[in-house]
Amino acid sequence: MTQIRHILSASQFDRPFLDRIYHLTNKIRQFDKSKEGLMYLQSLLPHQRAMLYFTQPSTRTFLSFQSACHILGIKNSEIRDTSTSSEMKGESIEDSLRTFSSYVDLIIMRSPVRGLCDRIANLLDQSERPVPIINAGSGPDEHPTQALLDIYTLQRSFKDFGGLEGKTICMVGDLKRGRTIRSLARLLTLFPGTRIIFASPEAFRIENDLRSFLQTSKFEFLETDQFSDAIYQSDAIYMTRIQDEYDTTVGESSKVDSSKFFLNASHLKHLKSTAVIMHPLPRRNELDPVIDKDPRAKYWRQERNGMWTRVALMTTLLGVDQKILLPEL
Ligand code: NCD
Repeated sequence: MTQIRHILSASQFDRPFLDRIYHLTNKIRQFDKSKEGLMYLQSLLPHQRAMLYFTQPSTRTFLSFQSACHILGIKNSEIRDTSTSSEMKGESIEDSLRTFSSYVDLIIMRSPVRGLCDRIANLLDQSERPVPIINAGSGPDEHPTQALLDIYTLQRSFKDFGGLEGKTICMVGDLKRGRTIRSLARLLTLFPGTRIIFASPEAFRIENDLRSFLQTSKFEFLETDQFSDAIYQSDAIYMTRIQDEYDTTVGESSKVDSSKFFLNASHLKHLKSTAVIMHPLPRRNELDPVIDKDPRAKYWRQERNGMWTRVALMTTLLGVDQKILLPEL
């Protein structure tokens, strides 16, 4: 299994790492069932401090990381708005992050800047405080911890149906700028026989680098603008929001008709009974709230799984994962 210091990209993970996170996450959920279990988790890292540096909007990722810190007894500080930090006085992002490393043991960061996490990890590795960095979303580029929780949710959903191997995952919406798509698609290549159908308007097709990666990995995928035809073939439907915050001209996204890529109640009868519906959230009108009541809707569980997988990830990064795996409950 790969030994990992920073979490920067989904391409760092191999299959043994994913299987271990799956196993660890299941154990952590068991601990959550009792007060003793939760007190045990809180006793693992009370001497550690983490920084949450989130300069792009976030609800779930921020709160699930913060809750994961609380679960493990880690104390956390946060910056969510650079107007309250010395970046406002002209301090560079590099200097700001280096400053955090003086005070904490782990930095979890979300930024609109592509590649910033890698730059900061490099910078810190050459400093006297090489604290680990976790990428919690880097522009339209990568969202590796979301991909981990998505894989966990898929593995768990299919555990009684032959596993994730061989399943067809339909990814829908803004595949061009959706970082969750980019990271998850990479991880799916680690599951033999799995296939992706990318369903999107022409303007939001996957980027060339992802397409080439999938081709060189000899991974089976299909790109289509016929979402309704893809529904009945799919074992999982992974919906995404149009990422209009990355528009380069005003109203660019609204000029594209995305309505054919919305999932609504009328589609449910075409969906396999064992299929799952996922969404990294937040949603807009691409996923009708009426669907929430369908047992195949997994997105609320998916968001809670995010907290548990992030606990698993932090125990791995901070070297206490054995303390989760060993004790008998
Ligand atoms: C996603 C993100 O920020 O990339 N949300 C999340 O982290 N759960 C998806 C989105 O914003 O559409």
